[in-house]
Amino acid sequence: MTELIKICLIGTGRAGMIHGKNFARRIENAQLIALCDPSKESLELAQKEVDCQYLYEDYHEAMQNPEIDAVVIVTPTIYHKEIALAAAAAKKHILCEKPLAMDEAECLEMIQAAEENQVKLQVGFMRRFDASFQEAKKVVDSGAIGDVVLVKSLTHGPSEPKPWMFDIRKSNGPIGEVNSHDLDTLRWLTGSEVSSIYANGGNYRSPEVSDEFPDYYDTVAMNLRFTDGKLGLIDGAQYVQYGYDARTEILGTRGSILVGDQGKHNIVVATSDQKLTQPTMHSWMYLFREAYVAEDQAFVDCILNDTTPQCTGKDGLMSVRLVNAGLTSLLENRIVEVEG
Ligand SMILES: NC(=O)c1ccc[n+]([C@@H]2O[C@H](COP(=O)([O-])OP(=O)(O)OC[C@H]3O[C@@H](n4cnc5c(N)ncnc54)[C@H](O)[C@@H]3O)[C@@H](O)[C@H]2O)c1
Repeated sequence: MTELIKICLIGTGRAGMIHGKNFARRIENAQLIALCDPSKESLELAQKEVDCQYLYEDYHEAMQNPEIDAVVIVTPTIYHKEIALAAAAAKKHILCEKPLAMDEAECLEMIQAAEENQVKLQVGFMRRFDASFQEAKKVVDSGAIGDVVLVKSLTHGPSEPKPWMFDIRKSNGPIGEVNSHDLDTLRWLTGSEVSSIYANGGNYRSPEVSDEFPDYYDTVAMNLRFTDGKLGLIDGAQYVQYGYDARTEILGTRGSILVGDQGKHNIVVATSDQKLTQPTMHSWMYLFREAYVAEDQAFVDCILNDTTPQCTGKDGLMSVRLVNAGLTSLLENRIVEVEG
């Protein structure tokens, strides 16, 4: 009989409930048995959706439950480290949402704690589990477009930032919240590490917070160089309102690959007022729904098969290194060299 991995979801907000519903309904050899969130309201709403045996307002209590094999950490990023350290010490495997933590030192502590306690640490870069991105990676690796020269990656999020996101000491701003995906995608698709980064940005959509949060930015443009000479461009934005937009273009010496478009469905509607319209993709939850399922299944499989996660703590750390370098570049208006 296959073992069942019993899961506790820590953080039952937007992204948390994607994982929560997956583990409750769609992931083989897994069972969601516990929910944890200090917000009673969020916990109650989540419980109505997924009906768990155990409810906790404090993650320390969840760690005492010997039935829990693994935790999924989906709290604001600032809490990822302390919860991961407690989980590792309690010998619970960890799937932690991106960005792994606030800075490299925190990531290193998390990686070390997972290693010392022999638990898995997987990071939630679900694009690595998305069918289109996986196909693009296969084509790149096949050599069909020659050598990769330049990867452009764009992510624009529609929603108004959560209050904790305005304080970039707590969120790192969109470079962390939105573009850590692009930074990871560039590393993954090129198979290379970034050597320098230059970022420019500003707050264009939430001027009302600029007195309280003068460093907050909602739009960023980043220019990257890799150690082997490849080039990267990242365009990020929060609160764009028109939809969720994630597109990547890989230029090789003999071809190119486009991943994604702005449409929700593959239809264009023509009407008598001589307009062509196409509904925009409204949410990352919809666009990457199946990628989240594949990511959650891969987490359970790596525990059961005792294999290395497909997206490791080191991938989380490297992306956080680039988030921090990008933020330093933006705040200090200079090119930042990235240590190898
Ligand atoms: N993979 C993705 O594309 C993706 C998308 C969205 C968010 N995220 C990441 O997921 C994390 C959560 O983001 P969100 O948008 O769901 O935020 P959210 O604000 O919607 O939800 C966070 C939840 O965590 C709870 N929480 C706060 N402190 C806690 C603690 N100590 N213990 C347990 N729960 C706690 C809050 O009460 C809230 O319910 C962030 O790290 C974010 O970067 C990833």
